Amino acid sequence: MIATDNGRRVALVTGGSRGIGLDIARRLAGEGFAVTVAARKEAGVAAAAGRIEAEAGVPVLGVAADMADEQALGRLAAQHTERFGRLDVLVLAAGLGAEETVGAIRTKAYDLQMGINLRAPVLLVRELLPLLRETAAAHPERGSRVVALSSITGVAAEAGLSVYGATKAALLSFCETLSLEESGNGVNATAVAPGYVDTDMTAHLDGRLERKSMLGVSDVSEMVLGLTRLSARAVVPSIVISRAGSQLWRA
Ligand SMILES: NC(=O)c1ccc[n+]([C@@H]2O[C@H](COP(=O)([O-])OP(=O)(O)OC[C@H]3O[C@@H](n4cnc5c(N)ncnc54)[C@H](OP(=O)(O)O)[C@@H]3O)[C@@H](O)[C@H]2O)c1
Repeated sequence: MIATDNGRRVALVTGGSRGIGLDIARRLAGEGFAVTVAARKEAGVAAAAGRIEAEAGVPVLGVAADMADEQALGRLAAQHTERFGRLDVLVLAAGLGAEETVGAIRTKAYDLQMGINLRAPVLLVRELLPLLRETAAAHPERGSRVVALSSITGVAAEAGLSVYGATKAALLSFCETLSLEESGNGVNATAVAPGYVDTDMTAHLDGRLERKSMLGVSDVSEMVLGLTRLSARAVVPSIVISRAGSQLWRA
């Protein structure tokens, strides 16, 4: 196990190659965190890791891992632990959605959303919990944190997004249970639940919803940075970020 230089804090960000995850990884690196960036595609991981390293000058580890593959999740946890031996912030941003009404749900799309949005975060937290506990014990003032990208659809249902919303609602519950079980050990969890954010994921809404009405990735990453500045005594179960307009509870 290699200790990190300067005792700097360390983050692992899934879905860190694009969109919200990439911005969170960049912002954490800008704050001096060493970062592991994980995503499915090797090229995206390499590009993101190179960019973050060049911008922030912090140690960055890029790991290509398909969140649908339990063994890949184990390898990701092992590679991170081997490289950094510390985990202050675990950001679970890898995710995907399929828009289809209940009567038209495809089993394959259901399995994919459950697998990437719920099963993978749960299994990865299980794998990394010993390291999160160890880090919190060594740094009791800050502790360590899990931040899961939920969605406002997990709080207020959206027609056409039943399965996606169900996975995101489950993440809200999972984060609450994690804090109940582990905050005494210094490990806190927060589900961040934004409305539509301007990323590749919302490209299918072109023509239906103006991009300038969506949240920016920095609206989400600012919240994550804020969480990293709290003491271990502060438990934040969830953060909902709604979009400006006359409806509060819609994506
Ligand atoms: N955009 C929104 O409106 C919005 C709103 C609320 C919540 N969220 C949530 O925020 C998170 C990030 O969303 P985003 O908009 O940033 O999405 P995005 O731009 O589509 O990026 C998705 C990220 O997840 C990774 N990913 C997807 N499938 C994967 C798999 N099987 N294994 C490993 N990595 C995988 C992608 O890597 P590859 O390119 O390698 O596949 C990419 O890095 C998601 O959980 C999403 O549900 C998004």
